[in-house]
Amino acid sequence: MTDALPDRYAVAGHPVEHSQSPFIHAEFARQTAQSIDYGRLLCPLDGFVATVRAFAADRSAGTVRGCNVTVPFKFEAFALAPRRTPRAERAQAANTLRFDADAAGGWLADNTDGIGLVRDIERNGGVSLAGRRVLLIGAGGAAAGALGPLLAARPAALVVANRTLDKAEALVARHLDLASDVALSACTPAEAGTGFDVVVNATAASLQGAQIPVDAHVLAPGALALDMMYGPAAQGFIAWAEAHGARGRDGLGMLVEQAAEAFFVWRGVRPETAPVLAALRARLAAKAP
Ligand code: ATR
Repeated sequence: MTDALPDRYAVAGHPVEHSQSPFIHAEFARQTAQSIDYGRLLCPLDGFVATVRAFAADRSAGTVRGCNVTVPFKFEAFALAPRRTPRAERAQAANTLRFDADAAGGWLADNTDGIGLVRDIERNGGVSLAGRRVLLIGAGGAAAGALGPLLAARPAALVVANRTLDKAEALVARHLDLASDVALSACTPAEAGTGFDVVVNATAASLQGAQIPVDAHVLAPGALALDMMYGPAAQGFIAWAEAHGARGRDGLGMLVEQAAEAFFVWRGVRPETAPVLAALRARLAAKAP
């Protein structure tokens, strides 16, 4: 009887009510004719593990197969699973859990944020990263998820700039073996240098309404400048980029692409992302005040 019920997933975080993931995954499921139910799982700040375990054990309305994990629990999610993909190991953080049975090795932690960023830049943003100069601003969880996949795209140079230098240095040190043909370095935002083709803001500065953390001379003419945030939080960075001759981009495409990769990890099926990104932009534009 329960076989007829959809497989269940959710986004776990604090907060989660704003999350667009239920909409995105519902669209993917419709498009690929997968029977899933994707909801929201609000976790108390001190109760992530207990909440996720209870969700996974719930058999009341179909089998719970996995969850996405958002702030501030990506590090706890990584620590929770006995198995981790190499890209989650690099990031030391997970945004995707697959609740595999113990007989299959137990839960799997993955991180699809970085590959989502790279796909958005290359496919949706139209910029091939190979041979380019890339500036990654920030060295927290978001930057950690991005660095490995950015290196795998083989830019000529990749600079990680962070307010707290030793965090950037530690992140770079953890990735040096992936950077054999990439000039990879760490610095403070003030020392970032000039003329980057792609600038990614992975700091929480936009969220706090703080100043843009770098000088405009980091931007090469026509550079792509992407803030991982979307909605009002990304607008300051995008306006700054466009005022200095760059192309501004928000994190909505990255959000859809990381979701598509998680969907593939869970279902083994790759959804089309372009129509879902367009639908999401229309939906958010309709909601905007
Ligand atoms: P996340 O998981 O979103 O990456 P995090 O791990 O707390 O969150 O990291 C936040 C990042 O934003 C860090 O790189 C942080 O810089 P520090 O390592 O120096 O703290 C950066 N950040 C936060 N506020 C900032 C600001 N006002 N200006 C510049 N960088 C800022």
